[in-house]
Amino acid sequence: MFKSYRKLLSTVTVVALASVSAMAAGDASRTYANGKKVIDGGMTYPVKKGLTASYHVNTQKAYKDVKFGRAATPNEIKAWDIDVMYDGTGLPEGEGSVEMGDEIYEAKCASCHFDFGAGGAGYPALQQGNAYEMQKTLKLQRLHPDDDGPKRNFGSYWPYASTLFWYIKTGMPHPAPMSLSNDETYALVAYILSINEIKIDGEELDDDFVLNKKNFLKIVMPNKDGFIPKIEGKDGLENVRKFYDNPKNFGGNKERCMKDCFDGEPKVARIQGVGISDYNPPISEKKEKPAKKASSDSNEAKATYEASCAVCHGTDAMGAPVVGDKQAWAAVLKKGIDKVYMNGIKGINGMPPKGGTSLDDDKFKAVVDYMVKTSK
Ligand code: HEC
Ligand code: HEC
Repeated sequence: MFKSYRKLLSTVTVVALASVSAMAAGDASRTYANGKKVIDGGMTYPVKKGLTASYHVNTQKAYKDVKFGRAATPNEIKAWDIDVMYDGTGLPEGEGSVEMGDEIYEAKCASCHFDFGAGGAGYPALQQGNAYEMQKTLKLQRLHPDDDGPKRNFGSYWPYASTLFWYIKTGMPHPAPMSLSNDETYALVAYILSINEIKIDGEELDDDFVLNKKNFLKIVMPNKDGFIPKIEGKDGLENVRKFYDNPKNFGGNKERCMKDCFDGEPKVARIQGVGISDYNPPISEKKEKPAKKASSDSNEAKATYEASCAVCHGTDAMGAPVVGDKQAWAAVLKKGIDKVYMNGIKGINGMPPKGGTSLDDDKFKAVVDYMVKTSK
């Protein structure tokens, strides 16, 4: 894991180059690392020998000025636009029973979230008992903090179950996000509701209970009104304004202070119970720009290489001569350095003109020199 992540970091800086046509073939058959089909020829991270390699090059028309990337297509936006809102917007068709959810949970979730969502070993609990009973410690906790502290888990804390659906659908199971079907997600939500002892229409959810798009909207989470101000609906903005206009609402009895507030003792209205308990003046009042790094041409070439070329020349995944590979560069240089400069500037096969940059010829040549020097 670690290794591939590092590799990713070092190669990802610059990715989508528009002007490469040699790589267009094969677009249709590409898949993302999670096995899903690539949409509209987007970019992918191919997995090589178990490691995530650099991006495939984007061959589509890029933005005119930035050269990298392109506008997302309607299909791509549709694929990402899968959030589920508190009012049910975005809920897909589908259904799943508590029993089915129980089985999927055992197979795909219990290894981390423990039996019955108990949590542990750093993994969040998905239930900590009867959500209605725990909820009383949560209501308006900003104004009335409870000594026992709130139990922040889905059942007692989250105001809407839609967030649970969305969270599971997009993020879980942790190692394979987006791998669950809508039916499986409904089933898991039904199961997690049931272990939190949430009722729908006053009924407990037994094993046979089937959750679907329609009865989902009947779920009323215990902490639905525990969050203030209410930000939803047409009055949301006004509610927020009114709330923050009154300092008492966030625990302070004093006037808010926006200027010259520190006078030995802070005059700032403090948030009660939680939050700021102390105030330290800044270490320095002076603002200084960071010292300029000594820069030489060769530093600049190195930086350009890392930002604009290493994505392809740092790995053999792209078929580019790898920087540091003596043999590969010796073979390239047989053509003579002038020819190599020219090929780089004009582009050749998978090498986009100037590597997709807008460097002037001299700067580009300096980067080539750096690559050659580093590969001797
Ligand atoms: C490999 C471990 C792992 C597996 C398997 C896993 N999860 Fe998680 N889950 C996590 C971690 C870690 C977090 C916390 C993520 C964070 O806070 O950024 C989390 C968070 C959650 C949360 C949010 C909890 C909260 O209160 O913030 C839910 C809900 C959840 N997982 C459901 C599931 C479901 C349902 C499954 C099975 C389909 C599942 N998880 C499988 C590791 C896992
Ligand atoms: C999109 C991937 C990609 C990027 C980005 C890229 N290159 Fe290349 N480069 C290649 C490939 C592939 C080749 C091998 C082309 C061939 O000979 O088939 C290559 C070859 C070269 C060559 C050898 C040309 C020859 O005559 O054989 C030079 C020099 C070069 N690149 C310089 C650069 C520089 C400098 C940058 C950054 C400013 C850069 N490249 C960025 C893919 C890339």
